[in-house]
Amino acid sequence: MKFQSTTFLAMAALGALALGAPQASADAIKIGMISSYSGLNGDIGPVMEKAMKLYIELHKKDLPPGTTVELLTRDDTGPNPDKAKQLAQDLIVRDKVQLLTGVIFTPNALAIAPLATDAKIPFVISNAGTAVITTKSPYIARVSFTLWQSSYPLGTWAAKKFKRAYTMVSDYGPGYDAEEAFTKSFKAGGGEIVGSVRVPVINPDFAPFLQRVKDTKPDALMVFVPAGATATAVMKGFGDIGLKAAGVKLIGPGDITDDQELDNMGDVALGVTTAFHYSDAADRPANKAFIADWKKAYGLVPRPNFVAAASWDSMDAIFYVIREQKGKIDPEKTMDLLKHYKNPNSPRGPIAIDPDTRDIVQNEYLREVRKVDGHYVNVELETIATALKDPWKELNAAK
Ligand code: PHB
Repeated sequence: MKFQSTTFLAMAALGALALGAPQASADAIKIGMISSYSGLNGDIGPVMEKAMKLYIELHKKDLPPGTTVELLTRDDTGPNPDKAKQLAQDLIVRDKVQLLTGVIFTPNALAIAPLATDAKIPFVISNAGTAVITTKSPYIARVSFTLWQSSYPLGTWAAKKFKRAYTMVSDYGPGYDAEEAFTKSFKAGGGEIVGSVRVPVINPDFAPFLQRVKDTKPDALMVFVPAGATATAVMKGFGDIGLKAAGVKLIGPGDITDDQELDNMGDVALGVTTAFHYSDAADRPANKAFIADWKKAYGLVPRPNFVAAASWDSMDAIFYVIREQKGKIDPEKTMDLLKHYKNPNSPRGPIAIDPDTRDIVQNEYLREVRKVDGHYVNVELETIATALKDPWKELNAAK
C-alpha cells in the first residue's frame, strides 16, 4: 500500500514537471493574499504581488527541504469589506490557506479580522494602517505602519516651523488617525489648528475644500489621502488653486508623496515635506540591494514604493515562521514567532514586531520631495523617530 502511494506520488510529480505545472506541490503551504487589483488603488495590488513573488523567488532556497509555498492572490476591488470578507472565507474554507496576508484598506482588514480569529489563521497585514486593527484579532500581526507613527512625529516637527495648520483627511479610519495624531502633537508643541475637513474616500472633488483652505491662509496644510491616484489629484489641485503659489506648505504622512506617483505629480510636489518609514531613494545598503533586485526583475516602472517594501518584509516574516517551524504551520506557535520577529536590515531600516501589540516598530524619517537625476524622489533628511511603537497604543496604554 505504502509502495503504491509513493509510486503514485512520484509519478504525479514527474507528470507535473513534464507538463511544466507550477512547482507548488500538494503539501505546499498556501498563503492567501487579498489586495486591490481594480477600483480605488487597483494599481497597488500588482505591486504588492510583485514584491511578495520576488521575495519568494529569491528566498525559496532558504525554506526547509521539501517545503514550498503557494501564493493565492485575490482582488477585493478597493475599500469593499463585504467582498474582502467573502474572499477570506473562500480562501480559508475552500482553498485551505494556512496564512493570510496583504490588504490595502482598513475596512477590509477589519472585516477579515473575525474570520482570522474563528479559523485561527495568522494574518500578516502588509498595508492597512489604522491603529485599532491589530486589537481586533489575536491572529493579526502588522508589518506595515500606522498613521499615528507618521503623523504624530510630523506634528511635533511642524509645531517648530508653523503656527497655523489646516488638516484635510479622507473620511475613514486612517484619515481620522492622521488627523487626531497630527492635531495632538501639533497643539502640544504650541501650534493652532485653524480648520479641519474630511473628504470622501472615493473620487472627491478637492477644489471646494482647497478653496476653503486658501481663504483661511494657514502656514501649512496637513493632508492624508490613500496613496495612489487620489494623492496625485490632491497634489494637482493644490497647485491649480494657487495654494503653492500662496506659500502654504503641504505636509503629511508619506502616503501623499508615494514614490510610485511622484513622477506623475511633477513639479508641484517639489518641497512637499512628509514623515514616513520608506523611500525608494533611501541609501541604506539593504534598500539599494532591494531596488537592484526589483530593477532586475521588473525594471523601475512601477517604482517599488512603501507597499512593495512592506510586502517584501511581510514575506520575510512569513518565511521566518515557516523556517522556525520546519515547514509545519501551527497557528499559536506562528503568532508567538511573529510577536518576536525582527529584521535589523529591512530596506526601511531596522524593524521589529512589538510582542505586546503585534504591531510594527520602526523608524520615521522626515523627507522632502526633490528632483534627483531627472526623477522626483523623497529625500530622507533626518530620522525623526527611532524604533517607534504605534503612538496611539502607547498613549492609550499609559492611561
Ligand atoms: C488604509 O485604508 O488603511 C490605507 C490605505 C491607503 C494608504 C494608507 C492606509 O495609503
